[in-house]
Amino acid sequence: MDAKNWIDIDIERVYPLDHFVVPQHYEKDIESILIPHGMIKDRINKLAKLIVNEIPDDPIPNLVVCCVLKGGHQYFADLVDEIKRCHTSKGKSIKLSLEFLKVKSYENDQSTGDVRISLSDKELEEFRGKNLLIVEDIIDTGRTMVKLLKRLEEFGPNSIKVTSLLIKKTPHSNGYIPHYVGFAIPDAFVVGYALDYNEHFRDLDHIAVISEHGKKAYAV
Ligand code: HPA
Ligand code: MG
Repeated sequence: MDAKNWIDIDIERVYPLDHFVVPQHYEKDIESILIPHGMIKDRINKLAKLIVNEIPDDPIPNLVVCCVLKGGHQYFADLVDEIKRCHTSKGKSIKLSLEFLKVKSYENDQSTGDVRISLSDKELEEFRGKNLLIVEDIIDTGRTMVKLLKRLEEFGPNSIKVTSLLIKKTPHSNGYIPHYVGFAIPDAFVVGYALDYNEHFRDLDHIAVISEHGKKAYAV
């Protein structure tokens, strides 16, 4: 995929809440809709095709799709649904296995560059020789993903590709760019489509900008 092959979302081009349906329980807690649910789904339809086009041409094309929980689960579910409907350029369907992991960064211990992955070494050994597709909700600083990739590479997969629905345009970025990106978003805190603020808003379909009221209401 070409660099910067994504949809750039401008903070000036947001949608007022009353243009879309939002759950009543969040009406005061979001300021605007950044990416409507329908547009997310359409974009995933295209991302699935881009991903399938680059799957290695094995006798049975295959992927181990790894969901980075919890924020990645909705993108993962919708992406997997689309990939299942796709065929390679040679007309073959794709054999998928699904994996789920949580990642915790040791933010206070930059020197080791470690991440803790919620899979044992024995489970990670299963990745040896496989074609991995890591599915993430958002790349912010990029630090967690760089560390995760370093750890996964220790287990000798045949290939690792990363897709993130969102990449944040932030000065704190380490420059990491996934292979397949849905949207580049402004440096604002976004919620919805499984992205959370203190575990709230995962049940909102659209991707939205949280309001001051919402930040206060769900602060911990
Ligand atoms: N929203 C939710 N989770 C996040 C964000 C965000 O904007 N950035 C990093 N994790
Ligand atoms: Mg995430």
